[in-house]
Amino acid sequence: MEVITVNSTPFTDQKPGTSGLRKKVRVFQQPHYLENFIQSVFQQARLQGKTLILGGDGRFYNRHAIQVIVRMAAANGVARVLVGRHGFLSTPAASVLIRKYHAGGGFILSASHNPGGPDEDFGVKFNTENGGPAPSSFTEQVYGISKNLSAYRTTTAADIDLERPGTAQIGAMQIEVIDPVTDYAELMEALFDFDLISSALRDFLTLRYDAMHAITGPYAVEILEHRLGAPAGSVINSTPLEDFGGGHPDPNLVHAHELVALMNDATSAPVFGAASDGDGDRNMILGRNFFLTPSDSLALMAANATLIPGYRDGLVGVARSMPTSAAVDRVAAALQLPCYETPTGWKFFGNLLDAGRITLCGEESFGSGSSHIREKDGLWAVLFWLNLLAVKRQPVAQIVEEHWARFGRNYYSRHDYEGLDSEAAQGVVEHLRGSLDTLPGNSFGDYIISSCDDFSYTDPVDNSVTEHQGIRILFTNGSRIVYRLSGTGTEGATLRLYLESYEADPAKQQEHPQAALGQLVTIAGRLADIEARTGRGAPTLIT
Ligand code: G1P
Ligand code: ZN
Repeated sequence: MEVITVNSTPFTDQKPGTSGLRKKVRVFQQPHYLENFIQSVFQQARLQGKTLILGGDGRFYNRHAIQVIVRMAAANGVARVLVGRHGFLSTPAASVLIRKYHAGGGFILSASHNPGGPDEDFGVKFNTENGGPAPSSFTEQVYGISKNLSAYRTTTAADIDLERPGTAQIGAMQIEVIDPVTDYAELMEALFDFDLISSALRDFLTLRYDAMHAITGPYAVEILEHRLGAPAGSVINSTPLEDFGGGHPDPNLVHAHELVALMNDATSAPVFGAASDGDGDRNMILGRNFFLTPSDSLALMAANATLIPGYRDGLVGVARSMPTSAAVDRVAAALQLPCYETPTGWKFFGNLLDAGRITLCGEESFGSGSSHIREKDGLWAVLFWLNLLAVKRQPVAQIVEEHWARFGRNYYSRHDYEGLDSEAAQGVVEHLRGSLDTLPGNSFGDYIISSCDDFSYTDPVDNSVTEHQGIRILFTNGSRIVYRLSGTGTEGATLRLYLESYEADPAKQQEHPQAALGQLVTIAGRLADIEARTGRGAPTLIT
């Protein structure tokens, strides 16, 4: 085996978005494209003599990319690589491994919930030694390096065998192919009451978990069926496939339709339903004929945390991304806990977690997590809910309704306008930005605008400032509209519209969210001139 330097020409489009570098597979397949990006990360991360964690969600191009990275790691002085068997690692499991083995960082190969296959998406995320996504300062540096990079280092070594656990060597670098599930499952056993969940599963707690042919299949089968004893078949679509069976591995009401149909079936719905996304960091929680919004899920977790062994001593604080509903803020106020509002993207929770300022955090986009790692964690959320149901022995809907009766209900919905012309989408946001000064005081029926801004965040730990994170329009009655552009798409632009209103009266908490938010939807369309600017009369996805 020889270390070689390969000449290439720089690429100008390797700017990481909300969560890593995401592109069409075809883009990654251009000669030297993947290699240049990986080399840029190696130059910024300085992993010489360190351990590297490596794995992905099993999508098309995963195996190829793993072999490329292993060879490049050896040429860039990495001492040891731990790679998941078959090239598998869920995003949360990679975070567990980085922390447990004191690694210098890890590559997670995934485009999360985006579809997979030769014509679909691929992605590369780099997590730093705290186990969390590299911060913006890091990814900006990587982008800067990539724009000037004209050579990368690799080796002539042959492919390693990913199919069997074992060790291999490339030059001085050791490679260990490890079971992707074991360390993760151990941590879950330490946080949750497995005995109690197990007995509830035997007793009343029927469940269905949809792995959507993505990475959590092997994790869920091991934890839910083998360790907790849920009947075989409780985990559906459990085999990871390179194209996720042709579906979007996105746990929402549209894409997890098989599970949703089952949960709404009056005769055969189990007590609890859940699904996770491509790389296993998202979760959707369902009860019988009941959809739990991720924002409410976070609030309920915070309110009930002391019922769960891993959080028995209480929380130090909580955080949510700005577009996430303020339901958790109300719990934090009642428990007298600090509550932080961060920009969209998990990386913004990292400093708060590292500084010990928060225990729980979450996003409206089906992500929740805690200080146990530095990523959102789909199966962790499922186990949290299973543990809570095992303690409370009530249906999901009843637990949530009792919560609303106490704290009030934050009606919430997100409307996505996908595949827009990029300039038109940009135009919507710029138009709103331009009207921020004149909007306060304007009224639309009962709705009066109290204030508005373009969200800017000053990190309380390192004082870094992140600007232009979404337009917020706040109303005197506590309602809110947020507009922002997606940073994870690979085609055109996606405009996200987030709508929220607050209802304290239990007698008025049973409305359908789209009805409760109807007036706000109309106002949002008018303020931003969405139809005229984008040519779209309706969103493509309503959550
Ligand atoms: C989306 C979600 C965001 C999440 C990210 C990565 O980003 O909105 O909350 O952190 O995916 O899973 P967006 O496409 O909105 O930039
Ligand atoms: Zn994901």
